[in-house]
Amino acid sequence: MDSSISRPESWQAPPDPGDLPQAERDAHFQRLERRWQDEVGRHLLDRVYDAPGTASVFESQFQRVIDLIDLARPGFIAEVGCGKGQFLAQLRSQTLAGGLTAVGVDLSQAVASLPGKGLKGVQADGRWLPFADESLSVLVYHGALHHVIDYEEAIRESYRALVPGGFLYIFEPVATPFTSLVHRILDPIIFRKMLVYESPVDLEYKDHFTKDRMLGVLRELEMPHSVSWSDWLAYPLTGCYGGSPVGRSRLAMRLLLAVENVCARIPGVRRLLDLFAWRILIVARKPESPCIEQ
Ligand SMILES: C[S@@+](CC[C@H](N)C(=O)[O-])C[C@H]1O[C@@H](n2cnc3c(N)ncnc32)[C@H](O)[C@@H]1O
Repeated sequence: MDSSISRPESWQAPPDPGDLPQAERDAHFQRLERRWQDEVGRHLLDRVYDAPGTASVFESQFQRVIDLIDLARPGFIAEVGCGKGQFLAQLRSQTLAGGLTAVGVDLSQAVASLPGKGLKGVQADGRWLPFADESLSVLVYHGALHHVIDYEEAIRESYRALVPGGFLYIFEPVATPFTSLVHRILDPIIFRKMLVYESPVDLEYKDHFTKDRMLGVLRELEMPHSVSWSDWLAYPLTGCYGGSPVGRSRLAMRLLLAVENVCARIPGVRRLLDLFAWRILIVARKPESPCIEQ
């Protein structure tokens, strides 16, 4: 084992900065987030792939987004918060020649592993994307937008970088009355027994990442959008980066995913289960340039 790697167990969270004006508190947590992602988060990214069941759940989540993307479309697709590029690698295996060219963006040093996988990667913050105006055909946030404290600004930044007619996909765990209740009950028990696998921003701003605030920005930007919910059974049982015994079994997770898929096809059941969903998928489109009247 590489002893130079800081193991998650060795992370010492600094004391809470206490009563600070909100902007200073946000800046503190943003700095802490970067440090945590470099020292801890980037090593955790591999852990989910050591558990075959958990890996199959993550792969099915990636596929859910990939299936919606027009891969034959020319231009660039960026995943912001790409980690070690697992989503982009799966996407690339299905991309057609002459179709979308992929690039990953991440705040942490995790992005340095992309070239080794034949992928392009840039280390940058989602709030200030290293792309020219109107240069991306597709932009994806997969499990990363909730790590950006000012995620409303990150959505505006995504809009800036998209070409007119370009698509924004946001597939994220989100705060709902149900997930907030579960976190309130379970987090103190789970994190007393095991390592804290959630990042500083994840822990501190969990309840502040909501559907309504994201949709508010999309309305302000006049981006038509659709919303759907998913992941009420298999995904929470993976234990995510913390791991779980069920996550070790590919067969068990495939069965749970199959149950979810069957339930999703029954409209009444689906509406009920949406209340217990852990993830939201938002698909938004940047409007074409307005026609200039002659
Ligand atoms: C939970 S991981 C998700 C990784 C990958 N998208 C996946 O689904 O496997 C969240 C990622 O977001 C990145 N991240 C956190 N804050 C960010 C920011 N402000 N800008 C860009 N990336 C950020 C982290 O470094 C981390 O790699």
